[in-house]
Amino acid sequence: MNAIVQLELSDSEFSDIKELVFSTTGITLSDAKRELVKRRFAPRVRELGLPSFKDYVRLVQTDKGDEVNHFCNAITTNLTSFFRENHHFDLLKSEILPAIYQRNLDSERRIRIWSAGCSTGQEAYCLAIILRSAIPGLENWDARILATDLDEKCLSTARQGIYREDAFEKTPSKIVSENFSKVDQLVKGQATPSLQAKLEIRKLITFNKLNLMHSPWPMKGKFDVIFCRNVFIYFNKATQAELVSRYARMQDPGSFLCLGHSEVIQDPEKVGYKLIGKTAYQRV
Ligand SMILES: C[S@@+](CC[C@H](N)C(=O)[O-])C[C@H]1O[C@@H](n2cnc3c(N)ncnc32)[C@H](O)[C@@H]1O
Repeated sequence: MNAIVQLELSDSEFSDIKELVFSTTGITLSDAKRELVKRRFAPRVRELGLPSFKDYVRLVQTDKGDEVNHFCNAITTNLTSFFRENHHFDLLKSEILPAIYQRNLDSERRIRIWSAGCSTGQEAYCLAIILRSAIPGLENWDARILATDLDEKCLSTARQGIYREDAFEKTPSKIVSENFSKVDQLVKGQATPSLQAKLEIRKLITFNKLNLMHSPWPMKGKFDVIFCRNVFIYFNKATQAELVSRYARMQDPGSFLCLGHSEVIQDPEKVGYKLIGKTAYQRV
């Protein structure tokens, strides 16, 4: 049996990896993330049979194939859950969607929502569930949810919309039974009781790969609601500010932007937003 080679991460390798992570994902790693970097990248370095992190960095820098994707996927944190930070979904149901409904009822009846940094899709499915419950006669509306992430593996889970039953522990059973169907999913070769989002929910969402750092974004139309939650925390202040300006350009006055619980826009008025709730903003 081959012994596992201990990989050392030198100061210069750590610094090169930090730079590469920043230039490919916008994520800023502090010096405290050294062990995390080692833990996340060492399996891939070994899998590729490379002798050091330095060789791995060189490979990613010169990669013409899929290695940059592996690199990005290895460093992102994909933690998410159904109805995480539920106050935003309450606000969506009680204020945001009723306002959009009234505004668009006698015009184009169009609604566009974007879950930016959607991870494995739970946030987008919650948006679809709330959208269906808050807009009467939704089938007569041109309503779409775009959900994007840079992690292709997460997106493939998201597209299937299948989650283990224990992912719904904190979700009211009525919401689960109305919007999900029981399926068996193979997890490590074992049939595992799971639930799949019903077709009418899945049909509302398009999952696409998008690196928020890339420019320009391919979307043309404006968004009535943007959820970009628990993504900003990985970015530095300048990157956060740049993203907020880009979001502002994708939204007309009266539209809404929700960030994660520890993410705030400094001086929202300066960039065209006003605070309307806990980390919830309206475009002015
Ligand atoms: C912690 S998850 C947040 C998921 C969900 N929004 C929530 O609040 O539960 C952060 C997600 O942001 C994605 N992400 C990080 N940097 C990104 C970038 N530059 N472009 C697109 N997505 C990115 C990660 O892949 C990850 O899935």
